[in-house]
Amino acid sequence: MKTLIFGATGAAGGGVLQACLSASDVDEVRVVIRRPLPHISDKLRVFVHDNFLNYAAITKAFVGIDACLYCLGTSATQVSGETEYRRITYDFALAVAEMLKLHSPNAVFHFISGRGASPDSRFMWARVKAETERDLLAQTNTVCWRPAFINGESLAIGPQRPLLHQLVRSFFRFTKPFRHLYVESEDIGRAMLQATAEKLRGRVIENAEIREMANRYQK
Ligand SMILES: NC(=O)c1ccc[n+]([C@@H]2O[C@H](COP(=O)([O-])OP(=O)(O)OC[C@H]3O[C@@H](n4cnc5c(N)ncnc54)[C@H](OP(=O)(O)O)[C@@H]3O)[C@@H](O)[C@H]2O)c1
Repeated sequence: MKTLIFGATGAAGGGVLQACLSASDVDEVRVVIRRPLPHISDKLRVFVHDNFLNYAAITKAFVGIDACLYCLGTSATQVSGETEYRRITYDFALAVAEMLKLHSPNAVFHFISGRGASPDSRFMWARVKAETERDLLAQTNTVCWRPAFINGESLAIGPQRPLLHQLVRSFFRFTKPFRHLYVESEDIGRAMLQATAEKLRGRVIENAEIREMANRYQK
């Protein structure tokens, strides 16, 4: 299987990358990122790219792919407002999905959304995520993943995490026994690989089911 990862330097994407590198049924892992990654595996092919709306310069990254594991995203608290959040969440994801459909039409697009995504939510981020899910599901072979709290290592932040981040993480670790509230980022990757093997399409998967699917993955 050949996978293509976006957001591999993030908390979610770091674990998803690790899951792909460890998987015996994945022979090539391509990542599209803003800055280079160290060479950590012979399976890894890194495409450094800076325009997340136009992929003409790296078309070959999209050819021959079985699954795109899309973990790129941001928090509504880290952007200037809805316009920027929508560009990163909706426009970026749809641009990748379109390229994938063109160059690997049978591939599945795994989109990380978030627990609580809903068109009727009072939260802007949840409405934008829901719109993105809706349009991806309508336009291509998509599975939408709705994790709650993701415990994962960001390659971007590394060991020197801000104190607030460490505190939040420590707090949420207590939610681990609750299957609908907590997931390890590597388990998201394992669940995505399991869903790819099962040829799952057109589904929205909540946190507890992510953990169940990850447990089924035996490669
Ligand atoms: N963390 C959670 O508990 C949680 C829970 C539910 C859902 N989610 C969703 O999961 C997704 C990933 O979250 P995360 O926690 O992994 O976030 P993160 O640690 O901040 O990582 C975000 C990833 O997206 C990339 N990215 C962000 N903005 C970008 C931009 N403008 N252009 C190009 N690349 C950009 C980052 O690249 P750089 O490293 O280059 O910045 C990084 O690889 C998001 O959609 C989020 O809503 C997260």
